[in-house]
Amino acid sequence: MPDNKVLKITDTVSWIGALDHDIVTFDVVMETKFGTTYNSYFIDAEKKTIVETVKEKFWDTYLAKLQTLTDPAQIEYIVLNHTEPDHSGCLARLLEVAPKAKVVGSGNAIRYLKDLLGFEIPHLIVKDGQTLDLGNRTLQFVAAANLHWPDSIMTYLQEEKLLFTCDIFGEHYCNEAMFDDAVGDFDDAFRYYYDVIMKPYSRFMLQAIERIRPLDIVSILPGHGAILRTNWKKYVDLSEQFAREALREQEPNRVFLGYVSAYQNTGVIAGMIAEGIRQAGDIHVDFCDIEKMGMAEVEQRIIRASAIVLGCPTFSQNILLPIYQVFALINPIRDRNKLAAAFGSYGWSGEGAKIMTSAMGSLKLNVMDEGLMIKFTPHNDTKDKCIAYGKKFGETFLNAMS
Ligand SMILES: Cc1cc2nc3c(=O)[nH]c(=O)nc-3n(C[C@H](O)[C@H](O)[C@H](O)COP(=O)(O)O)c2cc1C
Ligand SMILES: [Fe+2]
Ligand SMILES: [Fe+2]
Repeated sequence: MPDNKVLKITDTVSWIGALDHDIVTFDVVMETKFGTTYNSYFIDAEKKTIVETVKEKFWDTYLAKLQTLTDPAQIEYIVLNHTEPDHSGCLARLLEVAPKAKVVGSGNAIRYLKDLLGFEIPHLIVKDGQTLDLGNRTLQFVAAANLHWPDSIMTYLQEEKLLFTCDIFGEHYCNEAMFDDAVGDFDDAFRYYYDVIMKPYSRFMLQAIERIRPLDIVSILPGHGAILRTNWKKYVDLSEQFAREALREQEPNRVFLGYVSAYQNTGVIAGMIAEGIRQAGDIHVDFCDIEKMGMAEVEQRIIRASAIVLGCPTFSQNILLPIYQVFALINPIRDRNKLAAAFGSYGWSGEGAKIMTSAMGSLKLNVMDEGLMIKFTPHNDTKDKCIAYGKKFGETFLNAMS
């Protein structure tokens, strides 16, 4: 069935977005079992304006929708609150049919667009608090950097009291009724979206919410999922609650000690290092055999910890896949500067610690030293060395936290 839905939101603002029922995953890692929408809005002001475009593959549908409302050649501004290609994908083609349009965005947004599109675009860089006169309407821009790219802003349409937020306050949920009061319950999709996309940026979420609290808002118009015309406050409050919970999750005296071990040599070393860490003072060691644990669980434990110790034997001059998966879970924005160390058993070449500490450094953890490698089985003579290593880690950790 062709998607020709255009929705009137107010007398001047219409939704002309795309419905994507078929998407299976988003940005590779996100399940989208409810599909998603790419929301684009047309403001029929004296100076005709678009806010966000849609994913490139929906261009034909998108253009047809736009043409039911205006001649694209009349468009004067295209506001991009965020430039990820799910929102900027149709920009190049839109500029071809809207040759007098200027692209409006943050400095970062305009820089990213040049690299995304490969050519200079006519643009207007806007800053927090700045306004843009559309003739009979006024846009006001609100800073929202790092939600979830450094380019992000929000745009407030003063006369209509509408706030365009792109990825902020959105969720992957496709229902052609589009309005929050008509699409059914999307709270699970909202929570999942927050957890996967926004959670690492919770600090910035609280700042953004503080900035919009003074605004008189009737509706929030996000870039994905439901248009919040009835209950925007619920979703802003939920975002604030999720952000506060996320920021409380990290515990100051908690060390994540995760390892894998085929023959329990690395496992025994792990136990001795844990003992050493505990000897250093009041530290909770979260001791985890990663092979026995789902990666979602490992991620929760990394979030809660204020330091990370990883153990892996050397296999084929490399480390093992579960440890690489742990590295994929470390988020340098969230976990930056957490104290880290690596250890493992080896037989002859022993590259394990070097590979792990190098990855830890690249992920912006605070790597204590070159790590501890023990040849084959840790016997009594190496026990003290392992405990001392743990103690050194614990003491360094307590010093860094004080
Ligand atoms: C398939 C396989 C490949 C290995 N490759 C290496 C290697 O390249 N370099 C090395 O130092 N040790 C290598 N080893 C030796 C292991 O690191 C050693 O047996 C270690 O004690 C295993 O620790 P674990 O008991 O924690 O599994 C290899 C062992 C296996 C089973
Ligand atoms: Fe995005
Ligand atoms: Fe998006």
